[in-house]
Amino acid sequence: MNAYGAAITGVGFCAPPGVLTNEDLEKLVDTSDEWITQRTGMKRRHIIWPEGTTSDLAVPAAKSALQAAGLAAKDIDCIICATATPDYPFPALACIVAAQLGVQGTPAFDISIACSGFVYALTTAASLIRSGVFRSVLIIGAETLSKITDYTDRATCVLFGDGAGAAIVERADEDCFLGADLGADGSDPSVLYLPGGGSKFPYNKNGELADKRLGYIKMQGQSVFKFAVNQMAASTRNALARAGLTTADIDFVVPHQANLRIVDATIKMLGVPQAKCIVNIAEYGNTSAASIPIALGEAVESGLIKKGNVVVLVAFGGGLSWGSVVWRWSGAPVVRAHLQRPAAAAGAGAH
Ligand code: ACO
Repeated sequence: MNAYGAAITGVGFCAPPGVLTNEDLEKLVDTSDEWITQRTGMKRRHIIWPEGTTSDLAVPAAKSALQAAGLAAKDIDCIICATATPDYPFPALACIVAAQLGVQGTPAFDISIACSGFVYALTTAASLIRSGVFRSVLIIGAETLSKITDYTDRATCVLFGDGAGAAIVERADEDCFLGADLGADGSDPSVLYLPGGGSKFPYNKNGELADKRLGYIKMQGQSVFKFAVNQMAASTRNALARAGLTTADIDFVVPHQANLRIVDATIKMLGVPQAKCIVNIAEYGNTSAASIPIALGEAVESGLIKKGNVVVLVAFGGGLSWGSVVWRWSGAPVVRAHLQRPAAAAGAGAH
């Protein structure tokens, strides 16, 4: 039995203004708009300016979520960032964001579970609020995957983009957290990983990182694909069961935007109509931990998701990992931040 209810009271999101189209990728690697569109559903991805960092996206998304919720940063009890591309290996991105929001002393930490990060962060925030530890938590999913994408590898470079989304989770009379399912299987990290920069292949080992291109995402695409479809469907069913609901109760599914074919196959396995599935992959590609809050933000902004709707957020990612959360939408407003490349960076070359 939980002491308190939790509700999302504001959502914010943003993407950098620069865009990399399928036609741009045709000039970088041996690929085609037709192949990318058919195999992934992607047309464009937003790419940060060369000097840009993940905090350059996380902070505007956070400010937008605060504005939507009608709160100031000082009103927030805890900040959680989900990211695979923090500004530094440490300190945590959440600490950088807190400082840029002008708060000092607020607990702040990162969740490192790749594309499943926002679902893990939402579940963590809801748990901290429902147990009475905090009254308000700012959660952010933010990524600059372009920084770890190998633009000589056609099997991965077509997939990834940059962006950020954030939500304020607050103590509420009505509990909007209905159920969740989280999981991980680390038996073969090489299925989907960033090899370099940790203790296995540290930065300081002479030249090895660059020579072996270890600072880039490596992926066994077909293995990830099969895992994703099976696990997203199973996780959704588990979370619904914990909520005492079935797939018939779902108003909307907001899936991690990794590949349109993965999303379509998952929805089909669940028997959920396509009209109930939020998809914006053509515009953003895969933005990892940012993909769900950006898709959620756009769906609320367009009026599709309404107060009272039962919404399932479902993700998978490196770990391998997965997670689903079943949430009753409380009618929270959304603010989209329109980013400009900073004037100081505008003179620098394109990505
Ligand atoms: N353009 C043209 N051809 C390509 C491209 C490309 N961009 N990429 C691969 N190919 C070729 C391959 O070389 C292969 O050629 P071959 O038959 O001559 O050997 C052929 O296309 C088929 O390759 P597959 O890998 O079988 O293609 P598939 O249909 O599986 O699609 C894809 C590849 C899109 C990567 C798919 O497997 C996928 O989406 N997997 C999941 C990826 C994912 O979700 N990753 C999550 C990452 S999240 C994170 O951690 C940040």
